[in-house]
Amino acid sequence: MSVFPKGFLWGGAIAANQAEGAWNVDGKGPSISDVVRGGIVSGHHDATIDPNKYYASHEAVDFYHHYKEDVALFAEMGFTCFRTSIAWTRIFPRGDETTPNEAGLKFYDDLFDELLKYGIEPVITLSHYETPLALYQEYGGWKNRKLVDFFTRYCDVVFRRYRNKVKYWMTFNELNNMNRMPFATGAVDAGSTPQELYQAAHHQFVANALANKLCHEIIPQAQIGCMLSLSTVYPATCNPDDIFSTMQLRRRSLFYSDVMMRGEYPAWTPRLFREQNIELAIADGDLELIASHPSDYLGFSYYRSVLHQADGEFRIDTGGTVGQDNPYLEKTAWGWPIDAKGFRIVCNELADRYRKPLFIVENGYGGVDEVDENGVINDTARIDYGRQHIREMAEAVADGCNIMGYTWWGPIDIVSAGTGEMKKRYGFIYVDKDNDGKGTLKRSKKRSFDWYKQVIASNGENL
Ligand code: BG6
Repeated sequence: MSVFPKGFLWGGAIAANQAEGAWNVDGKGPSISDVVRGGIVSGHHDATIDPNKYYASHEAVDFYHHYKEDVALFAEMGFTCFRTSIAWTRIFPRGDETTPNEAGLKFYDDLFDELLKYGIEPVITLSHYETPLALYQEYGGWKNRKLVDFFTRYCDVVFRRYRNKVKYWMTFNELNNMNRMPFATGAVDAGSTPQELYQAAHHQFVANALANKLCHEIIPQAQIGCMLSLSTVYPATCNPDDIFSTMQLRRRSLFYSDVMMRGEYPAWTPRLFREQNIELAIADGDLELIASHPSDYLGFSYYRSVLHQADGEFRIDTGGTVGQDNPYLEKTAWGWPIDAKGFRIVCNELADRYRKPLFIVENGYGGVDEVDENGVINDTARIDYGRQHIREMAEAVADGCNIMGYTWWGPIDIVSAGTGEMKKRYGFIYVDKDNDGKGTLKRSKKRSFDWYKQVIASNGENL
């Protein structure tokens, strides 16, 4: 019998800016992702859009116009949930308006209806690297407390509009990447000081608490979580200095979920703030608000593990290629170590730490796909990755971890957030498009399509 409970949510996850395209259609305004070339993680962005340059998000895989065909394929795989984000700038094109854009609201009505038609629960991220560009350029991004009000207004509108359609929500995607990629997560400049970064994070914690409060008031049957990047880190040696430094690094990454899940700043933060000359502006009532409205569950991404040593780079989150090689692990073509056991470790770590449900909202394999002479894509490495990770997730459930669901990252090929490439593919569904934006956008099934279908049909037993 399957170790996964009945009703376990199986599906896939994408983000609006990496899939939808239609960046300026039906009243949508530009978001920070729309001025990025070469991947939002690198932080390279233009001040304005240059019509002679290529911006991957502008068309992406045109999910905006292909969603019916794509959702039908997800349904064929047996998805019971599907994670995507609402592009904030479809609803409020600049972010500071008081009246929402009806055409943008209508698009998500149609998308959610299409999902529900097949019994697929929408799982919705409110902000996935999609802060409105105007809020960054004219207000300075999340450093400015005014964004709390703008975000809350946006949440209020979408909670009311989709109250009968969406039961699973998440506030900010991977907030703990703030230090490595401030532009992406907080629309704060790359050269921002620790003071500015932690102030922006504080504003997002307040906004997170207000969103949780509103969501519970407007949609009592809903659950709203926070979302972090929690790929893990190991000490490179058994030297206690490396072990302590690794603990510090992990703590700094878990800081964000500690505040949002437990509702308070961890005990070690006063020392950090003192040593880094950080003085947070905390308004009256902020800490009570954060304490009163913690997240219902922790959504997180897991892709890999990395090694850390005391005299190495202290990058706070564990994304990208960093640290020395782990001799026990193979790597993907993009240098990401493949570590399925690490996934079980993280699930147990987080289940112990928070004692609340976990939702694995990103896990997947980004690789190069070759179409053979018969038009077949034999993506065995992707299947192996999925098999190993789901097996370890099953072990974690058997260990007692309360896991609500699993959404494979990029069930259909989309633009890479890290590099802006199409060549780095995660999908079970291939999209004919290359790094320069050329291709027919035709969808076709890879071999992994049937594999994932069988995984879902057997509730994770038949791997
Ligand atoms: C996560 C992000 O960090 O990793 C996604 O939430 C992203 O937006 C995913 O796409 C995979 O990273 P990449 O760089 O391979 O697209």
